[in-house]
Formats: sequence, C-alpha cells, structure tokens
Amino acid sequence: MEWSNKYKLGHEVIDLEHRLFFYIMNSVEQAEAEGASRNRMRSLITEIVKYSEFHFLSEENIMIASGYPDFQVHREIHQELMRELKKHVVQFEAGKSKPYELVNFLYSWFSQHTLDDDSVITNHINTRANSSKKSSAM
Ligand SMILES: [Fe+2]
Repeated sequence: MEWSNKYKLGHEVIDLEHRLFFYIMNSVEQAEAEGASRNRMRSLITEIVKYSEFHFLSEENIMIASGYPDFQVHREIHQELMRELKKHVVQFEAGKSKPYELVNFLYSWFSQHTLDDDSVITNHINTRANSSKKSSAM
C-alpha cells in the first residue's frame, strides 16, 4: 500500500489524518510480515480500531463546523464501516482471519471512501472558502 497524491484532498487536517491512517495500516501489514506475536498484532489492531474511531469523529466535527449538508449520511457510512471493522476484529480474535485480511478490507474501503465521499466534504469546504473570499473582496 503506497500513499498516493490522488488521496490528497486539499484539506490540511483530513489529509494529515489520512496519511497517518495509511501509516498505521502499513505498520500492521509489516508487523505481520515480520512474524510479530499474536499479542503484538492484537495491540496494533486495537490501534487501528481506535484510530478509525478518532478519525471519523474528527471528520464529523469538521463537517459540523463547515455546515456540511449531508453530515448525517456521511456519519452513517462511518458507523457502518466501524460495524464491519469490528466484525473483522471478532474474526481475527477467533483465529478465523489474518490481520492482512482486515487491512485489505480497510484499505479498499479507505480508497473508495476518500475519493467518493470525503472529497465531497473537502469540495464543499473549499467552495465555501472561495466564495467567502470573493464576497469579502467586494
Ligand atoms: Fe469520511
């Protein structure tokens, strides 16, 4: 998984948090490839779950602050992802799936959600910023 500029949406905080999301996903994959212990893998998976929760809350607060109209719909998408992610954790705990499967799920979800959904938030914010610049210039 390589970070690519196509994920850069032009919002400082969201971009920063997305990069960190990538970093954490990669650290799970790397630790597993290096044969890390089950306890270590469990601890990294907990980090990814907590980080996802934090990141979604952060994004939701950014949406509220910018008066994003489809906040509720976007929040439901986050909640659905958290439910799916927790199912993957249960599978891992039961020894039925490997950490890389959880990461692969998260990665494909992340790339689709960033490009299709988060980009709509950042477009909304950037359009608003541009129109307020124009109106204050008048
Ligand atoms: Fe989002």
